[in-house]
Amino acid sequence: MFSRSNKVALLQKVPLFNSLSQRQLGQIAQVADELEVTAGRRLVTAGEIGAELFLIAEGHAIVTTRRGRAAVRLGPGDFFGEMSLIDRNPRSATVEAQSDMRLFVVGSRDFWRLLDAAPPLVAKIMVSLSQRVREAEASVSV
Ligand code: CMP
Repeated sequence: MFSRSNKVALLQKVPLFNSLSQRQLGQIAQVADELEVTAGRRLVTAGEIGAELFLIAEGHAIVTTRRGRAAVRLGPGDFFGEMSLIDRNPRSATVEAQSDMRLFVVGSRDFWRLLDAAPPLVAKIMVSLSQRVREAEASVSV
């Protein structure tokens, strides 16, 4: 278990949150559940309905898109699962723990509350989505 101050310190390292105040980080720490998984655990399955955002505190995960075209490695500070929260469509990719991992999990309702309370988060998520589209496009061979 992370202590509350430990939780805030870890959240502070997540680039998505680096413009937030201590108060806002404290609010996120309150709504974020901790999750510890061992290597090989599937966290998100392509095609399934999902309603959580995952933030990686420790360890690495592999993202595999449905057609298996792009395998992307995510690590500490990265997040995943935002796409289904935003467009309410099934998961776009499968995400598996490549190592033992510690994560934070934020549910859909809290995710939208955070975006309402902190507009800089919206801009950061838009940047990340654009990058993910570009990387996915670049990985498609024609
Ligand atoms: P979601 O569709 O909810 O579930 C799978 C997640 O994998 C997705 O949200 C993104 O967070 C992540 N993901 C999908 N495609 C990519 C990509 N090309 N690069 C990095 N992450 C991705």
